[in-house]
Amino acid sequence: MSGNSSSLTVHDKTIDFPVKSGTIGPDVIDISKLYGQTGAFTYDPGFTSTAACESKITYIDGDAGVLLYRGYPIEQLAEHGDFLETCYLLLYGELPTGPQKADFVYRVTHHTMVHDQMNRFFQGFRRDAHPMAIMVASVGALSAFYHDSTDIHDANQRMVAQIRMIAKMPTLAACAYKYHIGQPFIYPMNSLDYTSNFLQMCFAVPCEEYKVNPILARALDRIFILHADHEQNASTSTVRLAGSSGANPFACIAAGIACLWGPAHGGANEAALKMLAEIGHPENVAKYVAKAKDKNDPFRLMGFGHRVYKNYDPRARIMQKTTHEVLSELGIKDDPLLDVAMELEQLALKDDYFIEKKLYPNIDFYSGITLKAMGFPTSMFTVLFALARTVGWIAQWMEMIEDPSQKIGRPRQLYTGAAQRDYPTIAQRS
Ligand code: SDX
Repeated sequence: MSGNSSSLTVHDKTIDFPVKSGTIGPDVIDISKLYGQTGAFTYDPGFTSTAACESKITYIDGDAGVLLYRGYPIEQLAEHGDFLETCYLLLYGELPTGPQKADFVYRVTHHTMVHDQMNRFFQGFRRDAHPMAIMVASVGALSAFYHDSTDIHDANQRMVAQIRMIAKMPTLAACAYKYHIGQPFIYPMNSLDYTSNFLQMCFAVPCEEYKVNPILARALDRIFILHADHEQNASTSTVRLAGSSGANPFACIAAGIACLWGPAHGGANEAALKMLAEIGHPENVAKYVAKAKDKNDPFRLMGFGHRVYKNYDPRARIMQKTTHEVLSELGIKDDPLLDVAMELEQLALKDDYFIEKKLYPNIDFYSGITLKAMGFPTSMFTVLFALARTVGWIAQWMEMIEDPSQKIGRPRQLYTGAAQRDYPTIAQRS
């Protein structure tokens, strides 16, 4: 990485720090020597100005509303590709040739079953357990079943672990759903493609033939592509930090799922649909927009705003198109939630508050309407996000593990607690 330098004066000492440039996007100032040379830390609690790593996987331009997976625009991948091909691209850096794709699909397809004792693992949950709680637990439990792919220093074991994760997430997600609704688990069907197989594991029942709707399968496959990776977001950073300690990949992915669950992150799709349902009718939208603008009201428009996108989230545009496709395929003429969402978007995009704060719909704004129309309960929305994001987490984890300069992540702090003091006896305490 070439570049110039930038100087900083701390406690009357001026230090030069190298500036590095990437292929595209902002330069970085390498401050790794800052503490050693000045005794001071940088301070950036939300990491709003911090690049935590170097990566070749995903690029986002928040101002231009651009998202590239290994250099390919998300619009083109969503239009022309499929999810497993996108998985190959994210993991290995290039789109697969015909034989490479066939081999990758074969390997993923033949790892979709989970250890049969996992079924007993599910029995330990209450039926009303949130599917995300089941996913955090069951993905973490995979490290108890697949010891032969937990040695992160063995390239072959890393490869087996990544295939197992991508292959088994749909099976675990479908089990979480079936367990939640009290229906028997449906085994994977190797004759079906990845997303059709997921739909049949969720919606088939043993007592009758289930026919996958190819339009819905294509739409869901595209939704998985949109959610596959997104640079150094909170859950990906969690996976990288967990992985930096040498934890096995299943444990790292479980940590990523736990972080994704939050309503400020992947949990926003569930929260957004609940918000649309609470608003209920387009005529109530103005009242909720006013609440979102009120500094004293903690209410936020879920599915709006983004740390990086200060323009329209390119995924939200594709998501909205997919929503209309799915609703028309299902013959849903007027979905009140869609009416509310469209009115909310119209109003917010014209409102000075949202314009000034550059708040646009993000990927979570329309996804819930689509998934609900497909038959998924709101509690499954973030599970589907986790299913799709697993490949991004794995790709980013692999990139970190294979980086020779990788070391354990260990941020510091600004300490504002008590200065050193002596232990008082209980009689001396007031
Ligand atoms: C995802 O990082 C990723 O890439 C994430 C993700 C991925 O693919 O991994 O894209 C997926 O998580 C999408 C985001 C889903 N979350 C939501 O939709 C929840 C609602 N959105 C917000 O909570 C918020 O926008 C965040 C969390 C997404 C971003 O928060 P930031 O960057 O920390 O911004 P902020 O909270 O400091 O907000 C800046 C201003 C504030 O006003 P001021 O204090 O400056 O006056 O904008 C306001 C906020 O009050 N604001 C909102 C708002 N989001 C921000 N006001 C009303 N409604 C909102 N949704």
